[in-house]
Amino acid sequence: MINYIVQPGGTLTGRIRVPGDKSISHRSVMLGSLAKGTTRVSGLLEGEDVLSTLAAFRAMGVQAEGPDKGNLVIHGVGLHGLKAPRQPLDMGNSGTAMRLMAGILAGQAFDSEVIGDESLSKRPMKRVSEPLNSMGAAISSADGGRPPLRIKGGQKLHGIDYTMPVASAQVKSSLLLAGLYANGETSVTEPAPTRDHTERMLRGFGYAVDTKGARIGIRGGGSLKACTIDVPADISSATFFLVGASIAPGSDLVLEHVGINPTRIGVLNILRLMGANLELLNAREVGGEPVADIRVRAARLRGIRIPEDQVPLAIDEFPALFIAAACAEGETVLTGAHELRVKESDRIAVMAQGLKQLGIATRETPDGIVIQGGSLRDGTVASQGDHRIAMAFSMSALRARGAITIEDCKNVATSFPAFPELATRAGLAVGVTQDA
Ligand code: S3P
Repeated sequence: MINYIVQPGGTLTGRIRVPGDKSISHRSVMLGSLAKGTTRVSGLLEGEDVLSTLAAFRAMGVQAEGPDKGNLVIHGVGLHGLKAPRQPLDMGNSGTAMRLMAGILAGQAFDSEVIGDESLSKRPMKRVSEPLNSMGAAISSADGGRPPLRIKGGQKLHGIDYTMPVASAQVKSSLLLAGLYANGETSVTEPAPTRDHTERMLRGFGYAVDTKGARIGIRGGGSLKACTIDVPADISSATFFLVGASIAPGSDLVLEHVGINPTRIGVLNILRLMGANLELLNAREVGGEPVADIRVRAARLRGIRIPEDQVPLAIDEFPALFIAAACAEGETVLTGAHELRVKESDRIAVMAQGLKQLGIATRETPDGIVIQGGSLRDGTVASQGDHRIAMAFSMSALRARGAITIEDCKNVATSFPAFPELATRAGLAVGVTQDA
């Protein structure tokens, strides 16, 4: 088991670039594989989740060179050029990979099976299998709608108008990708805005997507044209440093080339409401995605009631935001965030448990948490194999009275392979130990 031991105190300073955006990286591998021609990707996240997606396409006959220092060249086979994989496709820890692949595989001529690790095997898949089956797909799952998914090929898909019960970019994307193979129009209506990388990237590959308010529609029967993609740094990975530098007195850090897509910036909005000192520098657009350098300086944070409309826009950032809340003056209240209970772990329960270990008072609710700001003591916390929880608690040491040990940090490699090295460069005193 890989554990982190983080010494207390320190400041975060300098300039760093965190790895590429995970959502955009997955999608560039998927659309690059399904396009006609050669797609060149730079800034790709070489994390385990994205490598699972790439391995799946290779197993279906796609040739690709790399990734090497974030560069990947994909020789797309076209929408109908994938070949039957010889083995089940292993999506590892990645819910995004499994749910988006389900949409793509539903439209293929061959049968397939997708499997995942222990955490992914517990996550709900009915949210994609049910609407996909109502498009004519033939997807079966294990008990309770969990993985593995068995997908029968050769089905004729037809478009549906689907109103999503939960705000989920994964569900939206899965249906839009299946819509590439469906007769007529497939539309998805969102209860609240969610990340729109699929829509942006489809357009970048020359495919028309019709967005009218909350309704996103796509017509089957077209084709994707290869293109060039520059993946921005992941705002979800930048978040650990935004929080770390905010809570560590004296910090002044610049995060370079961060994606600031409006559907992803809930964390900036929430931190600003808490009193954070954030400056967006050199804002620009790169390949259809807005990007900026973010300067963050230490600030006195205050507890707030987090606006529910920000929840889907910051859905992956709550473990780190809970650390900000623990270091803030007063109470922070989160509601409308039931989805946190079905991420790589139950992020409400696991964070509450860890914060308790460090002497912070919390109260869990079914769809959120109340966190009383206080002072953090030393201690050992369990990440439960959740990458974002491991990185969030690492940052908490900046304000703790003693060292913090975080157990089971192996899965940090799913989204942020060189986290300990980069965090050390910025000023966090993190050591890595490996138990038998
Ligand atoms: C993602 C969507 C979100 C997010 C996940 C990545 C995506 O999941 O939590 O890390 O790339 O579409 P949901 O769609 O389940 O909210």
